[in-house]
Amino acid sequence: MQKTRVAVIGCGVIGPLHAECYKNNEDVEITWMCDLIPERAQALAEKYEVHKWTSDPAEVFSARDVDSVSICTDHGSHSQLFASALEHGKDAICEKPLAHNVKSLDAMLAAAKRFPERVCGGVFQHRFDPIYVELRGLLASDILGCLLNASASLRCLRTGAYYKSAQWRGTWEHEGGSVLINQAIHYIDQLLWQAGPAEKITAAIRNVAHKGIIETEDSAAAIVEFENGAVGTIEATSASNINWLSRLSFFGTEGGIEITNDKLSFVEMKDKSLELSIRERLEAAVAPKPAAVGKKYYGTGHGAQLADFIEAVRTRREPGVTLESAAETARAILAIYESARS
Ligand SMILES: NC(=O)c1ccc[n+]([C@@H]2O[C@H](COP(=O)([O-])OP(=O)(O)OC[C@H]3O[C@@H](n4cnc5c(N)ncnc54)[C@H](O)[C@@H]3O)[C@@H](O)[C@H]2O)c1
Repeated sequence: MQKTRVAVIGCGVIGPLHAECYKNNEDVEITWMCDLIPERAQALAEKYEVHKWTSDPAEVFSARDVDSVSICTDHGSHSQLFASALEHGKDAICEKPLAHNVKSLDAMLAAAKRFPERVCGGVFQHRFDPIYVELRGLLASDILGCLLNASASLRCLRTGAYYKSAQWRGTWEHEGGSVLINQAIHYIDQLLWQAGPAEKITAAIRNVAHKGIIETEDSAAAIVEFENGAVGTIEATSASNINWLSRLSFFGTEGGIEITNDKLSFVEMKDKSLELSIRERLEAAVAPKPAAVGKKYYGTGHGAQLADFIEAVRTRREPGVTLESAAETARAILAIYESARS
């Protein structure tokens, strides 16, 4: 079978990680690199020995030697690029969040409906981390009894220099928010994937320490009421002096589990033999070696997720993270902003 021909659109921070994952996939040939900033497209093309590069995504969409595209651009451009890809007969996977507002999100879902033969996906690479896959299996078997609390938090530091590094960052128009929709989204996605769906979310957002730097929020808190009856919280800030501290916690009538920075940090169960087996299972679920590109807290899931997506393209099946499922998390985050505004 011929290799799947892929284009990477957006060659900034995350585009190179997609390229690296595709390079390591023997079923893939990267045929195009694309970025509005031509030097970025050219540099990444040269690094990965890709012969074609452009600053115009329309050129990629009309190219015959592209089967599938990775959309790695700023939030505000995802929806239009995604719809154009599908209209031109390409399969597409889009970085998180799918969209920065409800209108754009609906347009993406409508495009996918118009072209049901296309394979579409959204990046949530942590859904491929062995520890979270294992945890999902455990929680699905009601191992904690009746779920009472399920919560997620992220504390990280994004400086003024980070927000100034690209014009779209820290703006409602192009990013659609900040710490929630960009950084904490990974753990909100895990919270919903593990314990969701959510029935109701109420929230408050603030710009505490980044006034004059961003117009969006640097800190947020939300109360989540889950359909299964549990209640929980989401807390996030990008203004702490902590590089990256993520926490997910699940507490039920039989015990509780906490994951800190993607590793088991707490387990206590009424049944001690069960506690031991949960500890062993979650400690054994070790992530593979990280890719040579990208930050440590991106985790190692991109390789697995993009491999899954390519297999889906090749076999015409649904990918592990469908567009609808990625959209649920985007919709929850947009609901948090709406709740905070009202
Ligand atoms: N999954 C993760 O862990 C992870 C990590 C970082 C970023 N991201 C996501 O990846 C996306 C990109 O983030 P980034 O940090 O790489 O941003 P970035 O600003 O560093 O890079 C985006 C690039 O896209 C280019 N671009 C914008 N519009 C374009 C268009 N219409 N056509 C072609 N190129 C275009 C820009 O010129 C820029 O080079 C965002 O959605 C972000 O949330 C995901």
